[in-house]
Parts: sequence; structure tokens; C-alpha cells
Amino acid sequence: MQVNIAKKAAGEKAAAYIQPGMTVGLGTGSTAYYTILRIGELVRGGMALQAVATSADSEQLAREQQIPLVPFAEVQGIDLDIDGADEADEQLRLIKGGGGALLREKIIAAAAGEMLVVIDESKLVKQLGRFPLPVEVIPFAWELTFKQLAAIGAAPVRREQEGQPFITDNGNYILDCHYRQIRDAAVVETQLNSIPGVVENGLFLHYAVKLIIGYADGTVKEI
Ligand code: 5RP
Repeated sequence: MQVNIAKKAAGEKAAAYIQPGMTVGLGTGSTAYYTILRIGELVRGGMALQAVATSADSEQLAREQQIPLVPFAEVQGIDLDIDGADEADEQLRLIKGGGGALLREKIIAAAAGEMLVVIDESKLVKQLGRFPLPVEVIPFAWELTFKQLAAIGAAPVRREQEGQPFITDNGNYILDCHYRQIRDAAVVETQLNSIPGVVENGLFLHYAVKLIIGYADGTVKEI
């Protein structure tokens, strides 16, 4: 795999916030990938820590890296969650779920003491919404959920993979909502959460405490 310098810089920088003994949330995606590789180096170098993964993919990568994993049910608390994002604004509000892992990602972000977000510079936006907002829905009566999303102007499109509906780790569908611009994210979040059949949406409005932004020259900026 070709190394993405900006993602690598951000992903590795975030791992510097991990202290021995922590329980760490492992994010999903091509930027969190570099964080997980760095955590693997820390573990193999002797640092004691344990981790909870936000997706089956991250769990597999963590196993390959010999990172001790604990089931969510056995965790007392998560000290630090490190995850990527599809869009982030300067108020640290996010769109997530491009990789389809938004439900577990949000559960772990909400359970964590702190969430650090690792992105490359292309993800930082003035206004959320250019990236289609992923909404996880149960397959039962998804057509009705789709119509209700369309009725509130969400412009949903069911995510497909190789001609079949994309299925999340939780057995659900993703409807990508093409808002183009989300002017009032809190209102949109409330609207989405009031539709039966919607399991979770990709707006993360109150979780991130820091953005770690990587640039193509390998430098990093933190907000
Ligand atoms: C997965 C996510 C990812 O964090 C998001 O898609 C960013 O991924 P990448 O770092 O590959 O751009 O929310 O559900």
C-alpha cells in the first residue's frame, strides 16, 4: 500500500497521547490505520495498554499488531478514543461513517473520556455536508425509512457494494444523505433521530476534543 504522508503524520501523532495502562478506542479507516500501527509498535516495545475496536476491520488489524483487545462488555471505561473523520469543521463537529462503522464508532466515542480525531487537510471544511451524511438503518421496512428521509430533504441514496446493498458490521444498511450543505447540524441530527428505522447518523457534534490534521509535507497542526 502506498504511504499517505498526511494521514500517517496525523495518525502517528495521535498515538503520542496514549499513556501506559490506558484503555484505547481504535478507530476505523485509512488514517486510524496509522494510529493502530503505531500503537502496535508501542505494545511490542513494552507499553501496557488494552483496546476496544470500532469495527471488524480494526479488530483484525489490532490482532495482527498484537494489541490486547477487550470486549466492550468487559471494559470499565475508555480513556482515549482515536478515530478518523470524513469531514470536520473548526468547532470540532464531524461527519463520520464513510467506512460504514459509524454506529460502533459513536458508541465508543460517547463512552470515551476524550476523542482525538485524525484527518488529512482535505477533511477540514467551513461547513459540513459536502460529504454525503451516512445514516445507518435497519433493513426491515428500509424503503419507508428512505421515503421519510427523502421527505425531510436528506436526499438519501442506499450504499451499494459490488451491486449488492452494503451491510454494516451490525447487519444494517447505510443510506448516504446528500445534503450538500448542513446549515444547522443540531436540527438535522434531531430530525434524523426521530425517524423510526434510523439506528444512528454520522453527525458527531459533541465528541471530539482535538483535531489532529496532517499535511502532505508531513507536518501536523492541532485544533
Ligand atoms: C469509518 C469512518 C472513518 O473514520 C472515516 O471514513 C475516515 O476514514 P479515512 O481516514 O479512511 O478517510 O468514519 O466509518
